[in-house]
Amino acid sequence: MLTNLIDNAIKYGKQKGTIESSFYKLDGKRVLIEISDDGSGISEEHLPRIFERFYRTDLARSRKVGGSGLGLSICKHIIEAHGQSIHVRSKIDIGSTFGFTLSKRKN
Ligand SMILES: Nc1ncnc2c1ncn2[C@@H]1O[C@H](COP(=O)(O)OP(=O)(O)O)[C@@H](O)[C@H]1O
Ligand SMILES: [Mg+2]
Repeated sequence: MLTNLIDNAIKYGKQKGTIESSFYKLDGKRVLIEISDDGSGISEEHLPRIFERFYRTDLARSRKVGGSGLGLSICKHIIEAHGQSIHVRSKIDIGSTFGFTLSKRKN
């Protein structure tokens, strides 16, 4: 998950941009992990589709950064296998934040 999200943040980030990772305790049972960048952002028309297999925005294809468009769909599968979900907030030219939750280990 982290490799995919941080790799994207670097690829679709900007020169000398900033990438942040944040970890939050939620209701005592779950943690929220977020990866943010201040890069290209994703427009609203593309946002609902970026978790589809092979889906890449025009901007991603034109950047020639390489990629198969599989990373986010794999992330979605991994996190759903844990019974959790992945979400995104993004604004063009402002940046993107991808987040997912995980259950803490039961002791
Ligand atoms: N941090 C990000 N900033 C801007 N666009 C992103 C970001 N992460 C993903 N995307 C968009 O979502 C698409 C799908 O991501 P992904 O499945 O990881 O494919 P890939 O990395 O191979 O391009 C990317 O091609 C890009 O258009
Ligand atoms: Mg990727």
